[in-house]
Amino acid sequence: MTSFARRAERVQPSAIREFLSLAADPAITSFAGGYPDPRMFPIDELHKIYDDLLTPGNAAALQYAASDGLPELRALVAARLTADGMKCTADDVLITQGGQQGLDLTAKLFVDAGDVIVTERPTFLGALIAFNPCEPDYRSVPMDEEGMDMDALEEVLRTTERVKLIYTVPDYQNPTGRTLSLARRQRLVALAEEFDVVVLEDTPYRELRYEGERLPTIKSLDTTGRVVHLGSFSKILAPGLRLGWVLAEPEVREKLSLLKLAADTQNGTLNMRAAAAYLTNFDIEGHIASMLPVYRHQRDLMLSTLAEAFPSGISWTNAHGGLFTWVTFAEGFDMAAFQRDVLIPRAGVIAVPGAPFYAVDPEPNHARMSFSGIPDDRLVAGVRAMGALLHEAL
Ligand SMILES: Cc1ncc(COP(=O)(O)O)c(C=O)c1O
Repeated sequence: MTSFARRAERVQPSAIREFLSLAADPAITSFAGGYPDPRMFPIDELHKIYDDLLTPGNAAALQYAASDGLPELRALVAARLTADGMKCTADDVLITQGGQQGLDLTAKLFVDAGDVIVTERPTFLGALIAFNPCEPDYRSVPMDEEGMDMDALEEVLRTTERVKLIYTVPDYQNPTGRTLSLARRQRLVALAEEFDVVVLEDTPYRELRYEGERLPTIKSLDTTGRVVHLGSFSKILAPGLRLGWVLAEPEVREKLSLLKLAADTQNGTLNMRAAAAYLTNFDIEGHIASMLPVYRHQRDLMLSTLAEAFPSGISWTNAHGGLFTWVTFAEGFDMAAFQRDVLIPRAGVIAVPGAPFYAVDPEPNHARMSFSGIPDDRLVAGVRAMGALLHEAL
């Protein structure tokens, strides 16, 4: 095909897709997915809600709605964001198809071909997939246990032209599980101000906190309106609803709304109504609280089994929340090759090799491992099997 637009060159199959199809095989123990645990979807409550919505007098549930989102849902989201330190009203909130659409729309709004997006190193692969059609250049900033290294970020900002966006997942990042410290959040806002750059803050795991204190969002530290804040119902209700939100300054929010109108007109009315009904009639905070011990247990079991089963010289992050730990092997180790040649054929185990999570200069010696939704016995057996093969290989 010669007639594709230039941006189509940057639209490539995701390296993760092949693992997700393998993960559907019941014979495979998958640490690759990172889906929320479906046992925790509030299915009975949603059943009742949809039953009530789909009654003959309630045709409005199937009608078009405003492209910004159902006003009552925007107000309910605004109330939650305000309670989380980001004072706002329904007008400041745009309802999106998950956080993913917020990534797409924000890139479309700010990034021309050749503009620079700064990401964490590593970063969320889905964000790169969303940004790529805008044909950005990337710079990436190393992380440590406190998240993005702010001295390194400053150096990038000082030496790079056309930086438009700094993209960060400050809470329990995908893929590393790391959290950006308070001091670095403050410094990030100051640097964005100094260098006149927009910060894109992506927070789908924020509520899944198993230890440590709750830190203020970057948006809540923003005094000049340069932070675009994304959130999602995917990990606190259910990802199949495809509901997320953007909180941004009026001028930005308005433009994002117009881009959303162009993209898909609106979110599904039925799902927006269902989420509004859930937030109004049920206790979402209680629901979130009930999920935490389950995920905390899964995380603890994975980390303790890694410690018991993996050879020395391999390290992993101690995620205080979210769904992932990030494993680092010795330099020179190629996780993708190990998985393909050894781990899958001999143990039927998969994780996600780390290279695709780098915007530039991929490092092959990492793996993202999710602990979500895996029965205890399979989790332990899978990590042990992987550990035994690593002992052999190293
Ligand atoms: C960091 C991050 N951002 C955004 C998303 C998008 O999620 P959703 O579109 O379901 O809200 C994900 C999903 O895994 C994610 O990990």
